[in-house]
Amino acid sequence: MSYLTATGVACANIAFIKYWGNRDDRLRLPSTGSISMNLDSLYARTSLTFDPGLKSDTLDLNGHPTGGRALTRVQAFLDLVRDLAGKPLHARVVSENNFPTGAGIASSAAAFSALSLAATHALGLELSERELSHLARRGSGSACRSIPAGFVEWQAGESDADSYAFSLARPDHWDLVDCIAIVSSQPKPVGSSEGHALAGTSPLQRARLAGAPKRLQACRAAILERDFNALAEVAELDSHLMHAVMMTSLRPLLYWAPASITVMQAVSAWRKDGLPAFYTLDAGPNVHVLCPASAAGQVEALLGALPGVLKVLKAHPGDGARLV
Ligand code: DP6
Repeated sequence: MSYLTATGVACANIAFIKYWGNRDDRLRLPSTGSISMNLDSLYARTSLTFDPGLKSDTLDLNGHPTGGRALTRVQAFLDLVRDLAGKPLHARVVSENNFPTGAGIASSAAAFSALSLAATHALGLELSERELSHLARRGSGSACRSIPAGFVEWQAGESDADSYAFSLARPDHWDLVDCIAIVSSQPKPVGSSEGHALAGTSPLQRARLAGAPKRLQACRAAILERDFNALAEVAELDSHLMHAVMMTSLRPLLYWAPASITVMQAVSAWRKDGLPAFYTLDAGPNVHVLCPASAAGQVEALLGALPGVLKVLKAHPGDGARLV
């Protein structure tokens, strides 16, 4: 009996220009492009073994045998890989994150990016970075951005074929630090997949999408020129726009906790006083506070002293997904 095994490691990422809402939910084709930074210290490690003796796929997530929606999602993704390889084998998947799952720290991005790499390798497929990113997108949209290294853009694309992510700049291009103020480690009540499907019901989504090309351009330029103030301005605006859409969809999604607002207001005040720092929130209450490495010690200490902040995680720009 032959066993086909591989292990992939991939970072989470934080979006400066967000994607929220899909043109096609099944294909995970986004309604806008997005730009993110990989987070080096927050990663998923996914091992899998295709085993001819298995009758169906199994999933062990963070040490627990897992069924339900998480397993169904992994099975649907593995079906794509099996079809590509022409090998109808089932797999045992073991995945672990070193950070809270489902709390707005892109756990699905890291996990599906690592799974894409491990699964294709185990079945003997040698995909290019672009092909891997394109495939990872089908597992979780933001996972396509955890395949390339550093600062990454996901182009929305005209069709399935050209919707994938690529590096705008390597990790060592700019030593930004993401100080993540953890205000809750609970999984979010409404997951991203469900949230994307609601985005179009917000009367604000149309306006948000209309301005996206301009914000993408401003963000790209700010990264390439290492212009911190320009990045701060466009990233905070983009985060507010996404959360405005979330709050006004029909079912309103309010991902913030009281402490999220405490952190946002504090960061704004610090920046007014000359400390280079800005915030952005994904689909969860934890607040990502970005600053140059030279300010990270001070930002971390200030965040840690705020009421409601349970702990602060720190990450620098991370590499792309890799096999181990
Ligand atoms: C708010 O990529 O997690 O983080 O495809 O359903 O897994 P699924 O969605 P996901 O959505 C993340 C959206 C976001 C913003 C972003 O990362 O661009």
